[in-house]
Amino acid sequence: MNKVTIVGSINVDSILHIAKLPQPGETIAMSAFSKAAGGKGANQAVASSRAQNQTIFVGRVGDDDNGRFMLDQFKENNIDSRFVSVSPNNQTGQAYILLQDSGQNSIIIQHGANFDVSVEDVEKARGEIESSDFVIAQFEIPLEATIAAFKIAKAAGKTTILNPAPAKSEIPKELLELTDLITPNETEAQSITGIEVIDEASMKKAAERLHDLGVKGVIITVGERGSYVSYNDLHQIIPAFKVKAIDTTAAGDTFIGALASELKPDLSNLKQSIIYASKSSSFTVQKLGAFPSIPNRKLVEQALKED
Ligand code: ATP
Ligand code: RIB
Repeated sequence: MNKVTIVGSINVDSILHIAKLPQPGETIAMSAFSKAAGGKGANQAVASSRAQNQTIFVGRVGDDDNGRFMLDQFKENNIDSRFVSVSPNNQTGQAYILLQDSGQNSIIIQHGANFDVSVEDVEKARGEIESSDFVIAQFEIPLEATIAAFKIAKAAGKTTILNPAPAKSEIPKELLELTDLITPNETEAQSITGIEVIDEASMKKAAERLHDLGVKGVIITVGERGSYVSYNDLHQIIPAFKVKAIDTTAAGDTFIGALASELKPDLSNLKQSIIYASKSSSFTVQKLGAFPSIPNRKLVEQALKED
C-alpha cells in the first residue's frame, strides 16, 4: 500500500433516474431521484483509502451544508482533509447525473468552490506531496493548481497520475511532460490526440501520440471492454470483469484510486495492478452512486481469490 496525495474536486451528486435522455424540446419524467457524495477527486480518494492507501486530499468546499456533509464523508472514509479549505463565497461543487436505465450516465457540473483551488492551497501541502508515493489530479479544478502539484512531486522524484477528465482538447505540454501515467477514457483520449478511439489499433495509435507528447505510461479505459495499457514493452487490452452494470458513475475514479494502491512507484507491476483496479471498478458499476459503490480492499481481494 502507498501514500497518495490527491489534488482534486469534491461534489455532491444529484442523480436523476430516467429511461433515456430527452430529445431537444421533449419533457420527460424521472423514475427516481437520489443524492450521493462524489466528485472525481473525492471518488478517487475514497477508492484509494478503501484500498488501504494513506490518502491526503487537497481541495475546497463551500461554507454550506453540502460542504459539511462532504467533510464528514472524508472523515468517515479516513481521508486526511487538513488541506481541504472552505471557500466563504462559493458553494460546494455539484453534479447533476442523468442516469439512464442502461446504466450509462451524462453529467452536468457546477464547479463552485472547486474552481477556487489555488497554487497557494497546493503549496500548503508541499510536505505531504513531497513524501507521497503518488500524486493524482483530474480536470475539475484550475490547471495551475495541478501543474503546481505535479512540479513539486516531480522535483521530489515522485510519481504523478493524471486523469484527464472531463475531456479537454488543449492540455499544456508542460503538464503532460510532468505526467508519468495518464488515464483517459476513450472520449478523453480522442479529445487530446484527435484520434478516434474505436479498436485496438486506434488505441495503440492514441497511446503513441500521448507518449510523443511526453507521457511515459498510458492507460485508456474503455468501459465494459476493459482498458488498453501502453508502457515499455506492455501494449495490450486488459479485459474488464463481466458483471451487470447498474450505474457506471465513478468506475474510472475507482480504477485510479485502486490502481494507486497496488502499483509500485516505478510502474514495474502495472499489468497486475490494472487487474486489481478492474476488479475494483467492476464492483462500483454494480451499485448506485459514487461513494456508496466504491469497494474496499477486503472485498476486492476476496473476489480475486474466488476467480
Ligand atoms: P466514469 O466517468 O463513469 O467514472 P470512465 O469513463 O472514466 O468512467 P470507464 O472506461 O467507463 O471509465 O471504466 C473504467 C474501468 O471500469 C474499465 O476499464 C473497466 O475495468 C471498469 N468498467 C467500466 N464499466 C464496466 C462494466 N460495464 N462492466 C465491468 N467493468 C466495467
Ligand atoms: O467521475 C464521476 C464523477 O464525475 C461524479 O461523482 C461527479 O461528481 C463528476 O465529478
